[in-house]
Amino acid sequence: MNNKITIANLYEAKESGSRIAAVSCYDYTTAKLISQKDVDMILVGDSAAQIMLGFDSTLPATMDFMVTITSAVRRGAPEMYLVADMPFLSYQIGVETAMKNAGRFMAEAGAQMVKIEANSAYIDIIKALSDAGIAVMAHIGIRPQSISKIGRFKAEATEAKVALELICLADRMIEAGASSLLLEGTAAEVAEIITKRSLVPVIGCGSGPGCDGQILVSSDILGISQGKLPKFTKSYGDLAAETLRAVDQYAEEVKKGIFPDREHSYHMKKGQLEELQNLLKNKP
Ligand code: KIV
Repeated sequence: MNNKITIANLYEAKESGSRIAAVSCYDYTTAKLISQKDVDMILVGDSAAQIMLGFDSTLPATMDFMVTITSAVRRGAPEMYLVADMPFLSYQIGVETAMKNAGRFMAEAGAQMVKIEANSAYIDIIKALSDAGIAVMAHIGIRPQSISKIGRFKAEATEAKVALELICLADRMIEAGASSLLLEGTAAEVAEIITKRSLVPVIGCGSGPGCDGQILVSSDILGISQGKLPKFTKSYGDLAAETLRAVDQYAEEVKKGIFPDREHSYHMKKGQLEELQNLLKNKP
């Protein structure tokens, strides 16, 4: 039986009040592990540019890179609801480019929804994609692709006037056809108001407990990221420490000649070593 999670399941979750657990993840192996647990959605986020490639922003993520890693995640998690992040300049140029690139995520990588970092300038693009049958997640609040205009990120909608603007923007995204919203770094009170008004599922990232679902980056959940994490994120493991311990022990065993031992080596069939030695003796 096909147990693939669909958008219908996300709408049911919203209606019944069951929270949606989402993870941002970028590779086959991690996706395969995540899919064994009660997670509903994977986003292949353009944060991959920072976490996988070491850039200092999400801007260098390209379409080809995002399509490649999205299809890898799909292979690891065939039944998970899969959202692909539209990278910088994959939709800002115009409707035609946006349509072509969103279509690539669907046709080439098996995504079920695309995410766009949106303000009111992108209403036409959301409408066109939605009219073409492509589910769109409108990402509002903090929008990391706007780093060059903002300089550094700070919490969104902490003041009433800005909060009202964000609430109106959320309404407009839904009117334009967004099938879901992602609220990043938004004051919890405002995120709760938006979620209550919204007919579509609202996923929060650093936007408090009042959203229909939550998303965190897999490397943060696993505790593999080093350095200071943003206030809103939480680690549920310490894979950085475990990775350092494992690599340390490996290097030590190699240097001391402990690894590889007999158990981790291949061996010749019985009697074959003696035969080889005879062959070598007779070799001119
Ligand atoms: O790129 C990403 O991973 C994201 C999430 C943090 C929401 O946009």
